[in-house]
This record gives sequence, C-alpha cells and structure tokens, in this order.
Amino acid sequence: MVLMENIDWLNYKGLEYRDGNLFFNDVSIIELSKKYGTPIYVISEQIIREKYRTLKKVLNSEYKKNHIHYAVKANSNISILKILNTEGAFFDCTSQGEIYTCFKAGIAPERIIYTGNMFTDNDFEFAVKNDVLINLDSISQLDRLVKIYKSLGKEKKTISFRINPEFGAGHHIHDITAGKEVKFGILEHQVVEAYKRAKHFGFERFGIHQHIGSGINNPYNFEKAAEKYFSIIKKLASSLKINFEFIDFGGGLGIPYHANEKPLDLEKYKEIVVKPFKKLIYVENLGEPVFKIEPGRFLVAESCVLLTQINTIKDNGYKLFAGVDAGFNILIRPTMYGAYHHIMACNKIRGKKMLKYDIAGPICESGDILGKERELPELKEGDYLTILDTGAYGYAMSSNYNSRPRPAEILISNGQPFKIREAETFEDLLKNQIIPDHLK
Ligand code: LLP
Repeated sequence: MVLMENIDWLNYKGLEYRDGNLFFNDVSIIELSKKYGTPIYVISEQIIREKYRTLKKVLNSEYKKNHIHYAVKANSNISILKILNTEGAFFDCTSQGEIYTCFKAGIAPERIIYTGNMFTDNDFEFAVKNDVLINLDSISQLDRLVKIYKSLGKEKKTISFRINPEFGAGHHIHDITAGKEVKFGILEHQVVEAYKRAKHFGFERFGIHQHIGSGINNPYNFEKAAEKYFSIIKKLASSLKINFEFIDFGGGLGIPYHANEKPLDLEKYKEIVVKPFKKLIYVENLGEPVFKIEPGRFLVAESCVLLTQINTIKDNGYKLFAGVDAGFNILIRPTMYGAYHHIMACNKIRGKKMLKYDIAGPICESGDILGKERELPELKEGDYLTILDTGAYGYAMSSNYNSRPRPAEILISNGQPFKIREAETFEDLLKNQIIPDHLK
C-alpha cells in the first residue's frame, strides 16, 4: 500500500509543512508540544464545525426535517459538546454519565436520545426523571420501563426500539452491530410484538432505530441494512398503524484513515439512505417523521491529532523502533482493533533517507505499537511525531493502565490554543482509593 502523503491529502486533514515544520489548523504543533508537553491531544474547533455543516447541508438538500445526533461516546469533552450544541446538533448517549455530561454542557433533554444496551432499572429511572427519550434494546426492558414510569408517576413519552436488521458493516468485527449473533437490538420476527406491547402499555408516540456498525467508508455497505429496515418499517406501519415521530439510521459514517483512501461519498450515502427513506414515507403515507442519524467518528475523528515525543531509537538488528511517550493507554485503537492511524514527523519532511519504524509506546506489553513498519524520514531521539485522526475513540477510550496519568487536551480556536482538559496528576491516580485502617 502506498502511503505517501500528498499535499491535497495534508490540506484535507488541516495539515501543512511550513519551513519543514508541521502546522495543524494554522498552529505550529512543535510549539504546542513544547508549550504543553507531550503527549497531548490537539483538537480543531473549526474542523468540527466544518464536518457538521457539510453533513447538515447534504441532509438538508434532500430532507429538511432531519436531526444529526452526535454520538457522545466518540469524544465527550464538554467543549466539543458545546461546539456542536451551538451548531444546532442533537446528541446520542449510551450511558447516564454521557447524559450527565450533556446536561453540564447546557444541552436540553429534548435534544438527547438514550440508546443504551443492557439497561438497568436505575438507568430507566435516571432517563425518565430527566425527560430523556429512551431507545430500548430488548422487549423485556419494556416491562421494566413501564414499572418505572408508574412508580415515578410520570406521563409516558415517545418510545423507540433498536432494530437489528441483520446486515451489519464496520471496520472491525467488534464494531459490526447487526446480525443474528450480535447482542444489539430486536430481530425482525419480534419487532411487531415489541411495538404491539408498547401500544398495549399505553405508549402513543413512537420512533424506530437501527445502527449497523462503525467505520463504514463504502456507502453501499448501508444498502442492504437500509432495505431490510425499510421493509420492517413498512410491515409495522401497516400492521399496527404506527405513525413514527422519527426514523433513526444510527451512525457508522467512516473517515479516510489511510493516505490513499477517499472520504465517504456523502452524495451516494444520500442516494442509498435518504432518498429511499423519502420514497418510503411518501409511498406508505407515513407523514413527515424526523430523519435522524447518529454520527460520532465522522464529526470529530479528523478534528484531532495526538502529539508525542520520541525518547528512544532502538535498532535491534532486525527492526527499528521509535519509542514514544504515548502508548495504548492513550490511544488504544491500533492495539484493540489493529486500526491504522497515519503517523508523521512534525519537524521533518519526507526526503531521500526514509526508514521503516515500528512506533512503540511505553506500556509493558508487546502489543503497544501505534504504527507498524511506518516509512518515515530518519528520526532522532527528541523528535516529535503526530498521530492523525484521533478525535473519535481516542481520549474517550484512554485509561490509566500502567499507572500513567492521562494527557491534556488542547482546543485550537481561531488560531489560539485553549487548554480544555488538564493532564492528570499522580494524585488523580490515587484519589478514589481508600486504605483500610489496618493498612494505614
Ligand atoms: N449510534 C450508536 C447506537 C452507536 O453504538 C454508535 C457507536 C454510534 C451511533 C456512532 O458510531 P460512529 O458514527 O462513530 O461510527 N471504539 C470503536 C467504535 C465503536 C462504536 C460504537 N458505537 C472504534 O474506535 O472504532
């Protein structure tokens, strides 16, 4: 695979070399690394806004009554939520903690959909008390939810079920979320029963939902699932006379992680998902439900780079390693999914002397490799590297493994850096531990 970065690709990613130094969104990332230390996540406000606007424009061009719910799990930093809130986004949450964070960002409950799975009664109580729309993942949960409504004396809101359309897609088996073997949603043969039951319990307003997987770059991978979903909606609408308030197609929109990949063709996505949706509601006379999607990665992945410094160059006679200060505690995607993140030298452009390095983090496992056999200009200890496209599922999946504090996050807005999260300290590592008296 050829992985040379060309100028267009760099520009598309908001990157540019000026006098041999890499700039991200008009800011010198070496200067940022020196000012704040490494590792650090650097996020561009402008890129998040651009991604949102691009997607919104495509949807609006076909069907105006649409809501883009940002999947908070991708990156739940409050500043990111606030940026998207000011753009008019809606939000998709998977836990009470995400809903709580949205509230702290000033997001109104009516802009949130709560798509959990394996909901506890406590989850339901939290959502019902806070007037958040619930998207159920199993029929049995309905019975429990009804009890919670009763015990809290609250009026029943809109209810929705997550459908498993059996045709899933995604960049890794862990992220394909449809299929008979998969834990999510309700299969076709139980869908009518689910809504019938909900009607029986007195629910009067309905939505419907599917999410087939994550990291889908080929728009045709949405096609079969969409067809199946449409046929299920058709069946439901005709057998139970349901007028849906919304029809949700989930997230999954991919981004080009490789330098030779093309961005997802949004016009094709529109052809495959939005146009047939419009046709369905017209032909089946379904009124004007809200068209919803829930992208996470698409909105934030490309807004962020992870900066790391090389501390060790090791040539073991077989392989060259560039040892850096970021490991899989900070970015787990390469280790967990074999995911590719493009890596570039911050202070050296590609030249005559290119060498192949494994970029190795400091975690005590051989799996702590952020990039394998990456062709880079000859590197030295003290050089800086930037790891691209880390805005989605980067910080959000980080941990304190090996007792390493998590890094800071810096937001670039109009060319100015703002620290939006402090790096953790050693005290943070210990703050929830309690030493029993006999060990004091
Ligand atoms: N909606 C639901 C119900 C979801 O479960 C997800 C992601 C999304 C929306 C957003 O999907 P996106 O647009 O970001 O693809 N940790 C993995 C990705 C896990 C995605 C889980 N669900 C990764 O790093 O690739």
